[in-house]
Amino acid sequence: MKSIVISAVVATVLAFSVNSNAADIPAAAKTYNCMGCHSIEKKLVGPGWNDVANKYKGDASARANLIVKMMKGGKGVWGPMPMPASPKMTEQESAALVDFILGL
Ligand code: HEC
Repeated sequence: MKSIVISAVVATVLAFSVNSNAADIPAAAKTYNCMGCHSIEKKLVGPGWNDVANKYKGDASARANLIVKMMKGGKGVWGPMPMPASPKMTEQESAALVDFILGL
């Protein structure tokens, strides 16, 4: 019985890590609570990151703008709701997050 439970848990964990790219999300997303307002697939408080990636496909200036916006916050692109600044976030952390999002 115990081993059935354990293998069910293992199977669930494996299925989850295969089906979701949650494992690839940069660590900074956790540090700065990005996922409290965002998900990859759908809109929560902020836009779904898949939608963000689609919006900026082929936009050469998007990466630099978004790196700054992640650190300083901003509003008006997706609706009236502002995104707060993450003043402690470094440019490297911001770039890693932006590269991850734009690469979705
Ligand atoms: C308190 C909620 C909240 C948190 C926390 C938050 N966001 Fe947002 N985010 C928003 C909202 C709201 C918008 C839409 C802003 C707009 O319309 O300009 C947004 C927009 C964005 C965009 C699109 C920006 C654009 O100009 O198109 C990206 C990319 C993004 N967030 C990434 C992140 C990352 C990475 C983090 C963590 C460092 C984060 N967000 C944390 C609410 C949040």
